[in-house]
Amino acid sequence: KSILVLNGPNLNLLGKRQPEIYGHATLDDVADLCRAAAGDVTIRMEQSNHEGQLIDWIHEARTAHAGIVINAGAYTHTSVAIFDALNAFDGPVIEVHISNVHKRESFRHHSYISPRADGVIVGFGINGYAAAVRQICDLINAS
Ligand code: DQA
Repeated sequence: KSILVLNGPNLNLLGKRQPEIYGHATLDDVADLCRAAAGDVTIRMEQSNHEGQLIDWIHEARTAHAGIVINAGAYTHTSVAIFDALNAFDGPVIEVHISNVHKRESFRHHSYISPRADGVIVGFGINGYAAAVRQICDLINAS
C-alpha cells in the first residue's frame, strides 16, 4: 500500500520562508518524518506551486494510492477545483497545516478542503504530517 503526501504552493521554500511561522525544517525533513511514521506503507511525496499539477496528482491517486495527506498551502482557502478533485478520490484524506491558521488572518480561517477531509491537523508544526501519516496508515490498514 502507498499514500500520497501532497504539498501546495510555496512549501518548496519551507525552512527558508517566514521561519518564525513555519519553522526551520525543510520539505526534505518532512519527507523523512513521513517515511519514519509510515512503517510498511510507501510514501510518495510531491510538491507543486501549480494548482493543475496538484489536481493531476490527486487524479493519479484514484488508482495508485490508498490515502492522501494534503497541505494545499494558500489553495486551501481558494480552490474549489482541489476540493472537487478530492471528492473524486475514494480513500481517506487528511488536511495538514503547519501553522495554526485560526490564530492568523481571517482569510486563512476558511478551508475548501476541510469538508472533504477525514481529519484536520493545524498548528503542530511539521509534526502534524507525522500524525496525519500515522492516522492514514491506521485507516487504510483497517479497511
Ligand atoms: C499553510 C497555511 C496557509 O494559510 C498558507 O497559505 C500556507 C501554509 C500551513 O501549512 O500553515 O502556505 O498551509
